[in-house]
Amino acid sequence: MSRATVTVDRDFTAGPVPRRLFGSFVEHMGRCVYTGIYEPGHPEADEHGYRRDVLALVNELGVSVVRYPGGNFVSGYNWEDGVGPVDQRPRRLDGAWHTVETNAFGLHEFAGWARQANVEIMEAVNLGTRGVDAARALVEYANHPGGTYLSDLRRRNGSAEPFDIKLWCLGNEMDGPWQIGHKTADEYGRLAQETAKAMRLVDPSIELVVCGSSGSGMPTFGAWEQTVLGHTYDVVDYVSLHAYYEEKDGDAASFLASAVDMDRFIEGVVATVDAVRARGRHRKHINLSFDEWNVWYSTAREGDDQPRSIEARGGWHEHPRIIEDEYNVTDAVVVGTLLNSLLRHGDRVAIANQAQLVNVIAPIRSEEGGPAWRQSIFWPFARMSAVARGEILRLKVTGDRVATARHGDADLVDVAGTWDEETGRVAFFLANRGLDDAAQVEVVLRGLNPSRITRAEVLTVPEGGDRFSTNDERRQAVGLRPLDAAAIEDGALRLTLPALAWAVVEVEAAAL
Ligand code: AHR
Repeated sequence: MSRATVTVDRDFTAGPVPRRLFGSFVEHMGRCVYTGIYEPGHPEADEHGYRRDVLALVNELGVSVVRYPGGNFVSGYNWEDGVGPVDQRPRRLDGAWHTVETNAFGLHEFAGWARQANVEIMEAVNLGTRGVDAARALVEYANHPGGTYLSDLRRRNGSAEPFDIKLWCLGNEMDGPWQIGHKTADEYGRLAQETAKAMRLVDPSIELVVCGSSGSGMPTFGAWEQTVLGHTYDVVDYVSLHAYYEEKDGDAASFLASAVDMDRFIEGVVATVDAVRARGRHRKHINLSFDEWNVWYSTAREGDDQPRSIEARGGWHEHPRIIEDEYNVTDAVVVGTLLNSLLRHGDRVAIANQAQLVNVIAPIRSEEGGPAWRQSIFWPFARMSAVARGEILRLKVTGDRVATARHGDADLVDVAGTWDEETGRVAFFLANRGLDDAAQVEVVLRGLNPSRITRAEVLTVPEGGDRFSTNDERRQAVGLRPLDAAAIEDGALRLTLPALAWAVVEVEAAAL
């Protein structure tokens, strides 16, 4: 049995839980859009072709904001191809994913879906093959009420009301050599600066995310942020981060400590951004948009992870299966810890998008003409988005640690927590990284008098299964069950986490 003590104080908080932390991502990639969120003719499809079964799961997941339409896809995309009469829209080759894009789904369809899903839109503009003019035209098309060529075109295309999109990404992963239209930091910084300026001239109320590094392992990490922000600090609001994690060579301990890497990545970007602020004598703060994160078996498992030759893919197809990772118990625990890292840094991470929403490295899976279901990683996201309310608690964790080859030492028990004065609820999200031993956890609550446990649920290895157990369309083996070993004793919360587990515990408490 391992041990951990968590100490919290009602007065030590890191600010309100940002609702945009529970974001997701819909890219025109694989089967995320087509046969994911959109499948006309499916028995569950509504009159617009939106899958109601998928919408219900998106709702249950508690997604707040959805980034669209890419990803690598956006760097070769003409937004105009996706508006106007569907039968006149061009079929195009998408070079990013070696796919035929029919353009049957575009901005109007996505905006309609977002309304149904009750999510905010986060729209990316193409700074790969296009630039200032296409970006400012898109803002005018989407946000200007009417009386100009582009806004009236939107009205003629069926949307009298503007889409009023507040959140915009200035391209995608422009530091990556794989990106169509990849640029140096100076080239991108200048383009992003001028694009931001022109977009704001159309609609000054928009918020802009400039591309940071597409991973902390990029050779230009740090220098890229410095140079890009040197050009754009005054005209943008957020800088982006992307990170994907996977279990490599059977090293589960390192994989389970992925959030240690995410913590470091976030703290490194905060330091870099703040150094640019100090050097430029800027007043405002730039916050972080972690707009792609997840577990992705991009190298360890055989799969369609990277764009391969057209021959290897057997030619060009519409919505082929690409990176439909099946997630297991270990992955769900890791996703829980990544969410903890994001929440702990919620004073600077203002936006986060799990990549992606349906089928493509996603918490939700669906089959063409068939059912939709929850993957293991669905649960930590769904519960945290539903339960994390009020203020983020700063926590002190002491206890057993584990040595890992890739990320150094990590706490065996990983925790994040929130305190909601309005409802009198304190919530904890806990993971036991230990593969073999249960963990006994004591939570000391300063300034709070806990009265009763209102929720205690755990996700762990299912009976008869192992850490590689997954869900499929027939069998939902990995899910939440009651965590019985949780109690309030002498004013403290005491609980026992099974080996390899993620748990959510919510307590009613009075402020002292
Ligand atoms: O989410 C899948 C891909 O990962 C995105 O298109 C790209 O931005 C990232 O490399």
